[in-house]
Amino acid sequence: MSTSEFVYLNGEYSSKETTSLSILDRGFLFGDGVYELIPIYNKKIFYVEDHLKRLRSSLEQINISPLLLDTLNLIKIINKIIKINDYNDHYIYIHISRGVQQKRNHVYSDDCKPTVLVMGENYKPFSRSDIVKGKKAICEEDYRWLKSNIKSTSLLANVLIKNKANNSNSYEALLLRDGLLTEGSASNVFIVKGGVIKTPKLSNKLLPGITRKFLADLISLHNLDYAECDISKDELFDADEIFCSSSTNPVVPITQLDDKTISDSAGVISMDLYNHTQDYIRKNFK
Ligand code: PDD
Repeated sequence: MSTSEFVYLNGEYSSKETTSLSILDRGFLFGDGVYELIPIYNKKIFYVEDHLKRLRSSLEQINISPLLLDTLNLIKIINKIIKINDYNDHYIYIHISRGVQQKRNHVYSDDCKPTVLVMGENYKPFSRSDIVKGKKAICEEDYRWLKSNIKSTSLLANVLIKNKANNSNSYEALLLRDGLLTEGSASNVFIVKGGVIKTPKLSNKLLPGITRKFLADLISLHNLDYAECDISKDELFDADEIFCSSSTNPVVPITQLDDKTISDSAGVISMDLYNHTQDYIRKNFK
């Protein structure tokens, strides 16, 4: 890590290495908080309005007033973190917990002052040849809670599931609840069947991914066939193509699911969307 990395925590800008938090922070004790992860390309914020809208919604759903974001002028803080750090392509991570409470108690007190952390992180998306080759995924029961539309920092189930995938040399775990696809442990999931791109419709069972929304916009721009609908386990395994979407890797083709080969390499539509995404970023950000 470069020593020149600065983070924002509760009004102060300080070095990432030395910045610390109280052990009484409810984010630490209970995972009582929400977060956002926003890609930055060439120092510009990707789909900023959508990310902030989702953050407001996450805050509202855990009873923290989103007015906090206006008082703070969050955009100004993000831009300052982008400016003072020597990053190129990276993401901004925003973490808002309910704050410090003097006694550990499941019941939160109304006068908690939220803890706000904003930091950047360099990352390297998959190379084009990795994308063309595609990735492996496993199927897993979605045993998470029923408020997966909140971008909560309580990620234990996602962490356990993602590690199970990782331990079987897979990029992702695709989750099934009551026999229907919800999302991945850290991504949204799309399938392609007979030329139609399909993804589960938004509900309390999945995160309203901003990349998912961006891809839906691209799909509509390019007049591709698209449906938001139920996808059963059989339909998933029978798909012509599968791909995952997330802020860090917008389109990741899945070519192997458990023991089933979906395709020998990334499918045509997945590659089209990957290419359109790269074009969009180049045109708008580079
Ligand atoms: N995760 N679903 C889950 C459970 C996720 O954790 C993510 C992203 C997504 C995709 O959302 P978006 O397109 O807005 O990134 C869907 C981020 C990258 C993370 O937690 O690191």
